Amino acid sequence: MSLGLQRAGCEIIQAYDSWDKAVEVYRRNIGSHVWQADLKDIFRIGPMLAALAPDLIVGGPPCQDFSAAGERVEGERAALTRAFAMLVTIVRPKWFLMENVPLAARSQAWTDARAMLVNAGYGLTESKLDASLYGVPQRRRRLFVIGRLGEQNGFLESALASARSAQPMTIRDMLSNALGDACYFQPRVSGNRGIWSTDGPAPAICRSSKRPIPPNYKPHPADATLVETGAFFTRPYYEGRGVRTLDEPAPAVIRTTRERPRPHYLANPHPADPVPATQAAVLTQEQVSRIQGFPVGWDWSSAPSRDVDQMIANAVPAALAEAIGRVILAREAGESIPGIPGQFGQWLRRRHGFSKLAIRNAKSRLNRARRFLNGRTFADVALELAALESTAAFATLSKGMRSDLRAALRLYREWQSELTERKRTKMKEATAAIDAMAA
Ligand SMILES: C[S@@+](CC[C@H](N)C(=O)[O-])C[C@H]1O[C@@H](n2cnc3c(N)ncnc32)[C@H](O)[C@@H]1O
Repeated sequence: MSLGLQRAGCEIIQAYDSWDKAVEVYRRNIGSHVWQADLKDIFRIGPMLAALAPDLIVGGPPCQDFSAAGERVEGERAALTRAFAMLVTIVRPKWFLMENVPLAARSQAWTDARAMLVNAGYGLTESKLDASLYGVPQRRRRLFVIGRLGEQNGFLESALASARSAQPMTIRDMLSNALGDACYFQPRVSGNRGIWSTDGPAPAICRSSKRPIPPNYKPHPADATLVETGAFFTRPYYEGRGVRTLDEPAPAVIRTTRERPRPHYLANPHPADPVPATQAAVLTQEQVSRIQGFPVGWDWSSAPSRDVDQMIANAVPAALAEAIGRVILAREAGESIPGIPGQFGQWLRRRHGFSKLAIRNAKSRLNRARRFLNGRTFADVALELAALESTAAFATLSKGMRSDLRAALRLYREWQSELTERKRTKMKEATAAIDAMAA
């Protein structure tokens, strides 16, 4: 996560982990600002962090107690999620960012942590993001909670959605990037040429191209088997699929991803495997490291191989962290504003009988007000209106326009309150129905 956030433009001033080997890998690759510490030791870490006065606190508390592969009994490690929230509430940085497995959203630890963070005044965006849509060749869905003091919940959702790519990144994309100015595509017809310049269209786009092999083509020897095989095996979760082609992202990396297929799998292959597991390449540790977003040349040499597998599996891929970091920095700089969901327009028409033109005007005034507020939303509408009044740009508007901008913000609030109320009623009805069935 540190690597990705650095790339986005954040300055990392301190980092912590209780695992000595992880600390050493961090020190070698990122910097000496890393400490080995138990983050449950709030009395020691709280004052230390408060003295640093960071703008952002970032954490990936251990997830084994919540993960689908784990036992789902909340134990000692789940306590770190609460410790993270406590540290944030002690230090009160403007922003925080927390990563965990999607199942954490339903845990008691997160319910407790959430309550502390909300009480401390943070507006939350809780989004489950798929890494393959943020420049990582891996389908890895994780929960990211981004908090900012004073915001409305959901304040960053639309910005995170806009940062997504339309197509997932595949393993072939990753290999092409590594090959530099030439890349290899599995020929569709046996005997056809497989090496293509990355400057031009790939064979899937322009199959009739007859360009020669570029003279500066440097094959990546470590990837030769994978490229030539065109398919790879990863140890599946439970009954999942083991074999994928290079034109797909890898599944979420786990500690055992690069294990060879076991006899049980070979005897019971997944019906959707594109080729038999025996014909698929087994990934190397270096490839798994790259699939998880670590750069070529990352120095893992200080840790035993098994620990390296664990550290790779633990990580937040750098490209995903970078994308989130950019979204945070853009909002901090007032360069982005929250999007307006389409349902708002429909509600204006239904509830207030707005014409198409009136809806367009309301939306454009809302956007204008948001730009004056540098993209900020406010938990309290009175504060939002007060903040708007205090901007220099607002003061220059005509009386009529000022009133239109205020009205647009109020209407949006009215819609959001109705939505919240509707959700609350639905929850109550669902709970009552469950109680009635149980009785
Ligand atoms: C999900 S991993 C996150 C790894 C890393 N932050 C990243 O972004 O790639 C959880 C990390 O929490 C560390 N950890 C577990 N218990 C801890 C504790 N009590 N204090 C500090 N770190 C702890 C583990 O060693 C592990 O590296």
